[in-house]
Amino acid sequence: MLIDSYDRVVDYIRVSVTERCNFRCNYCMPEKPFSWVPKENLLSFEELFEFMKVAIDEGVKKIRITGGEPLLREDLDTFIKMIYDYAPDIDLAMTSNGYLLKGTAKKLKDAGLKRINVSIDSLKPEVAQQIAQKDVLKNVLDGIEEALAVGLKVKANMVPMKGVNADEIADVLEYCKARDITIRFIEYMENAHAKADIKGLKSDELLSILREHYDFEDEGFDGSSPSHYYRMKDGYRFGIIEPYGDDFCKQCNRIRLTAEGHLIPCLYFDEAMSIAEAVKRGDIKTAALVLKEVVKNKPEKNRWGGEDSELSSRAFYETGG
Ligand code: 5AD
Ligand code: SF4
Repeated sequence: MLIDSYDRVVDYIRVSVTERCNFRCNYCMPEKPFSWVPKENLLSFEELFEFMKVAIDEGVKKIRITGGEPLLREDLDTFIKMIYDYAPDIDLAMTSNGYLLKGTAKKLKDAGLKRINVSIDSLKPEVAQQIAQKDVLKNVLDGIEEALAVGLKVKANMVPMKGVNADEIADVLEYCKARDITIRFIEYMENAHAKADIKGLKSDELLSILREHYDFEDEGFDGSSPSHYYRMKDGYRFGIIEPYGDDFCKQCNRIRLTAEGHLIPCLYFDEAMSIAEAVKRGDIKTAALVLKEVVKNKPEKNRWGGEDSELSSRAFYETGG
């Protein structure tokens, strides 16, 4: 079992298979980065899988594949199948922008994927286009329908922003509710890569907008999920992800692996250790030692909303949020 210095059990790893993305969301990657990680520095699926085995053997129970946009990586289903065949009981999930889901959802499900999280920031084509800087809405919604049809469990994420999509909070919730998709509203996390003028809504602002439309009860946190859940009278549950809140880090059970093999203990910070050399030479022992060291170094808290208001320089497209 992997336990950090604050007695948190780390049993969840998020693996970014590429930092590249076909969207340019203004809160994440508004412009193409100055340089991408060169292709030859990316770990192959075999190398990533070597590390997944180490992590699973050390007690990891949940793996989420992220990006950038993970579906940009060719034959992603083969990587999913490697993990599934090794550990069919692993909670195997993916976060995707949904654009390429149509036509691939079944293959992913058949390979062993169980769940998928997709962003729905707007249901208006022109607003979705403004946020992602590309006309994306139709493909995303078609992709979601297909994912549901093949039996993937779907959750949706929305980053509400003042003057952009904040007026659509209830509409997005209704869209999700009608399909039994759990929606989680995410407080915009400031970072050095995002567009400078974004004003996200904080949890209390989101709740007061939602209260104008609905009655609901606070259910608190659900296990190690980063989301604070609320239940409406008819039983539907929605979540708010509040990295600025005091309790966000208390139950954190996650670490992150980038596509080039950097193991990152916290979304906010830049600190990382590389497992690339170790997996490339098949040195499983060293990979396991690095994993334990990173878990040991996991910080107690992120610094969003903290005293020093230094911007996090960590790029979300490297770590998949
Ligand atoms: N603040 C909040 N959420 C973000 N995401 C990406 N960048 C940010 C940010 N700056 C979210 C996206 C997506 C997930 C991968 O991460 O909404 O759902
Ligand atoms: Fe948008 Fe996700 Fe791509 Fe970032 S990685 S630009 S949030 S789709």
